[in-house]
Amino acid sequence: MNEQFQEMMRTELTRLEEQGLSVRIRTLDSEQGPACTIDGKYVVNLAANNYLGIIGRKDVKEAAKRAVDEFGVGSGAVKTIIGNTRLIVEAEQKLAAFKDVEDVLIYQGGLTANSGTIPAVVHDGDMIFSDELNHASIIDGCRLSRAKIVPFKHCDVADLEEKLRQYGQDSGTRLVVTDGVFSMDGDIAPLPDIVEVAKKYNAVVMVDDAHGEGVLGDHGRGIVNYFHLGGEVDIEVGTMSKAFGVVGGYAAGTHTLVDYLKNKSRTILFSSTITPADAGAILKVTDILMESDNLVRQLWDNAAYFKDKMKAFGFDTWRSQTPITPVIIGDGRSAKDLSARLFEKGVFAQSLAFPTVPQGLARIRCMLCAAHTHDQLDFAAQKFHESAVELGILKR
Ligand SMILES: Cc1ncc(COP(=O)(O)O)c(C=O)c1O
Repeated sequence: MNEQFQEMMRTELTRLEEQGLSVRIRTLDSEQGPACTIDGKYVVNLAANNYLGIIGRKDVKEAAKRAVDEFGVGSGAVKTIIGNTRLIVEAEQKLAAFKDVEDVLIYQGGLTANSGTIPAVVHDGDMIFSDELNHASIIDGCRLSRAKIVPFKHCDVADLEEKLRQYGQDSGTRLVVTDGVFSMDGDIAPLPDIVEVAKKYNAVVMVDDAHGEGVLGDHGRGIVNYFHLGGEVDIEVGTMSKAFGVVGGYAAGTHTLVDYLKNKSRTILFSSTITPADAGAILKVTDILMESDNLVRQLWDNAAYFKDKMKAFGFDTWRSQTPITPVIIGDGRSAKDLSARLFEKGVFAQSLAFPTVPQGLARIRCMLCAAHTHDQLDFAAQKFHESAVELGILKR
C-alpha cells in the first residue's frame, strides 16, 4: 500500500468533511417510488428522477422479466461485437418513431452518450459553444474532444451569438451544446433561438434531453417536439434513467449520424451495451407513452400542485419551469440542516450547495413524480414549512 497516496486521500476527505461538502450516500431498502424506505425509514420521496413512477409498474417489470427469460441477464459484449440484442434494435427503432427522428443509437447511459458523442463529432481544431450550466457529462465530453471550449452565459442567446461572431472566422466544425432542461434549476433552454443563431453561423446544434424525455412535449416526446423543432436539431442525446425508469442513454438524429457514431464513438466501441432487462423495459415504456399521455399530465399537475403549496408557504422555487422544483434556502449549512430535519419527519429531499450550485443559492431540490398522491405532497409541503420555521429559515 502506498502510504503517501492513502494520506493524500485522507487529507482531501477531511477537507470535504470540514467544509460540509462530503457526500452522504443513503441506501434504499425498498422499491423506488413516491414513498419508499430509505436507511430503514419510510419517507415521502422527493429526490428521484422517476418522473412517471415507472420503476414500480407491474407491466414494465414483467416486460423486463420476459426479456431476461429470453436473452439472459447481460449483453456479454460491446454493441459492435455481439452485444446488440434484437431487443436493443427494436428499442432503437421504437424510440426513433417516438421521437420522430430517422435513427437512434442506444448507449449505456446519459453520461456515456454525452461523453461518447461529443468527442466523436468534434476534435482538435473545432469549437464548442457550451451553456455555462451544462451537465457534467457534457463538460466531460467537451474536454475529451480536445476542441476549443467557449462557454456562453446560461440560456443567453445574445451572448452565444456574440461568441459565435467572435470566433466566426475560425475553420472547423462549430458545435453548440445545451441541456434541454437544466437539472439544478428546472428551467428550459431557449432552443428555438439557439437553433436560429446556430444556423446563422453554420453551427451544429446538440441538446441533452435527459430531463425532457417523458416530461416535455406531446406524450413526453421531449424538448424538440415541445418547441416544434423537428429536423432542426442535429444531435439529441438523452437518458433512459429518469422518466423511463431504467438504465440507458441514446443519441438521436439522421441515419448518417447514427452510422457515424457506431463507427466513431468510443463509449459504443469500448463498453458493453445495456442489459436485455433494460431494453425490454424501454420498449414497454415507449409503448405506454405512445398510447397515452395520462402519466405526463399527472406529472405536470403534481408539479403545479406542489409548487403552489410551497409558494403559499413563502418558499422561493426560483426559475423552475418544469417538475424539477428547487426550493432556495441560501446558505449551504441551513439547506443541509433542513434536509436532515425533513428526513426525521418523513420526507426525503436532497440539499445542494456550493460548488454544485452558486454560493448563496443552496437549495433543496424537489423532484415531482406522476405517482405522488396529493396527500403525500400536502404532507411534504407541511413538513417543509414546519421544519423551516423550527430552524429559523422561515419566520412563520
Ligand atoms: C442533463 C443530464 N445529462 C446526462 C445525465 C446522465 O445520465 P445517466 O444517469 O443516464 O448517465 C444526467 C443525469 O444525472 C443529467 O441530468
